[in-house]
Amino acid sequence: MNAHNPTPLKGKPLDLQAQNETTRMAHEDTLLQPRFYTTDFDKLDAMDVSLVRAEWDALIASMASDPNKGHFKRNEEWDDINLDDVPEELRAELVDFLVSSLTAEFSGCVLYKETKRRGTNEDIKARFTYMSRDEARHAGFIKDSLKDFGIGVNLGFLTKAKKYTFFQPKFIFYATYLSEKIGYARYITIFRHFEKHPEKRFHPIFKWFKQWCNDEFSHGEAFSLLMRSDPKLLSGHNKLWIKFFLCAVYATMFVRDHARPEFHKAAGLDIEEYDMRVFEITNACTTQCFPLVLDIDNPAFLRTLRRLNEVAVKIGDADQQGGIAGALKKKALQAVAAASFVRLYLIPPKKNEIAEDSKMVPSW
Ligand SMILES: [Fe+2]
Ligand SMILES: [Fe+2]
Repeated sequence: MNAHNPTPLKGKPLDLQAQNETTRMAHEDTLLQPRFYTTDFDKLDAMDVSLVRAEWDALIASMASDPNKGHFKRNEEWDDINLDDVPEELRAELVDFLVSSLTAEFSGCVLYKETKRRGTNEDIKARFTYMSRDEARHAGFIKDSLKDFGIGVNLGFLTKAKKYTFFQPKFIFYATYLSEKIGYARYITIFRHFEKHPEKRFHPIFKWFKQWCNDEFSHGEAFSLLMRSDPKLLSGHNKLWIKFFLCAVYATMFVRDHARPEFHKAAGLDIEEYDMRVFEITNACTTQCFPLVLDIDNPAFLRTLRRLNEVAVKIGDADQQGGIAGALKKKALQAVAAASFVRLYLIPPKKNEIAEDSKMVPSW
């Protein structure tokens, strides 16, 4: 992905070609790109939260109070950086980071809004209204910061053109719950890192991550309650699905982060250390509802992720090579990647006794 372009000065009209290219980046459907989802909305709407009523109502009340209203605006904390001073490779990876975050935020916004629009169940509607409100703010804030690079992402176009992956509600719960919690863990880890090393903070958007990640945390809380309202989603053969989603989400993040070496170098973050910290926090969060956690301390865990990443890099090279030889190489490498994924999946997980209460405090 090469979406960098000479950085125009601030205030210059949006470069149409850059806009198209960046929208294309966000539109690209690869296994690693954030996806757009659709689901069986009637089934989702039929969820009954009586089993978690007290916690549900408390969470809805706190979302209704809108603690982050007004946070997603530029203020005196925003430092105007000269993007021409940012080395080209770092700029490209920063844009890639922003576009992929924007796609993820916006994908949540679209799904949540649609759930609310089609819903009749007041519990579900209220919750999805607040979540889509938050995601729209997050997406809008990133979209604005991309404008500084002279690029725009056409969100209306994305809504129409992006391919939607259909998932049954329970798979939406596993995938979205995890993406909210891992999103929290990523944002808070980056924020804490720059708190210690402000001289490394190469873009002002990171200053906004603390309150931002609290939104993601509370979205995750809502999905935890939703799953806990139907305990069979968290037991029996569904444990196998939960493990599958944990492996898929962790592996995707590991590979995606390794594709941004300059970004992490500039931040002074060791990618593996950072990812392991994010897994640790996500694991701690998921004890609120998942009956198992991945054993990230098992040496085979990191070893297998490294292997998966090596194969992913080679798949990228084969793609670049193109032609029949490239295509054949890619097929063979995909088989190796699948085998490595199975290896990851087969690492025995750690059993977790699901806590009495779902509620967790974002203490990281
Ligand atoms: Fe978000
Ligand atoms: Fe979120």
